[in-house]
Amino acid sequence: MPQLIDGKKISAEIKDELKEKVQRLKKDGIHVCLAVIQVGDDPASSIYVNNKKKACAYVGIESLAFELPKETTQEELVALVENLNGNEKVNGILVQLPLPEHINSDVIIRTISPDKDVDGFHPESVGRLCIGADGFVSCTPAGIIQLLKRSGIEIAGKECVVIGRSNIVGKPMSILLLRENGTVTVTHSRTRNLKEVTRRADILVAAVGKPKFVTSEFVKENAVVIDVGMHRNAENKLCGDVDFEDVQRKASAITPVPGGVGPMTIAMLMYNCVRAAEK
Ligand code: GUN
Repeated sequence: MPQLIDGKKISAEIKDELKEKVQRLKKDGIHVCLAVIQVGDDPASSIYVNNKKKACAYVGIESLAFELPKETTQEELVALVENLNGNEKVNGILVQLPLPEHINSDVIIRTISPDKDVDGFHPESVGRLCIGADGFVSCTPAGIIQLLKRSGIEIAGKECVVIGRSNIVGKPMSILLLRENGTVTVTHSRTRNLKEVTRRADILVAAVGKPKFVTSEFVKENAVVIDVGMHRNAENKLCGDVDFEDVQRKASAITPVPGGVGPMTIAMLMYNCVRAAEK
């Protein structure tokens, strides 16, 4: 049996550390506050937003919820974000994605002040990450680095392969692994001989978006396998991008779904909110 990388336990540790920090900040008169905006009532988004609000309550961060109808115009949403940018009480602003089709998410992301961009999606945050400057880092890849570090897995000098090149996971993941001195390869839908490339990986990060795509044929003996996927199968059971049953026979360490990467995203959002307040 490989080492199970326990995202539930590690995210709880991080939230407990942050809870103490928030209490210390309160004593210094600093109050942490996150504005969470949801447009429309997509059920998956409602679950994510609720989990974010619950995490805020646990850590001691105030959350201001804005639940807007799906007919909200882009101009109205821009005006709300601009208003929150100027609200000194608010440290972080999160606009839940996806937005309805008539709203351009790029415009909204660029409207959020980089000082309050706790999702790390603003081009300035992404640019800062690329050049190694201080800034907010996208929560899921930041959470994966914490999972590896807190599980005693060394990154420096390792062959790291990322499957997927999204702006939210694949690209920032590759830059963070590079920052930790990994040797990084990013693969995608046009990669030739994908299995040959992924079989080089000491650390394999699967952010493909296809259920059970990564089988043992993609994995080197004793590799560390991180699964970013989250899907529901025909029996309504959660599964990831990795065929866990098959891959666990080969991996030295692996994240489960659920209970792996998922809880880390919210823990790192809380971390970014506390950092925003400290700034
Ligand atoms: N939708 C799915 N994941 C995320 C996330 O991390 N942040 C935001 N804002 N929307 C999302």
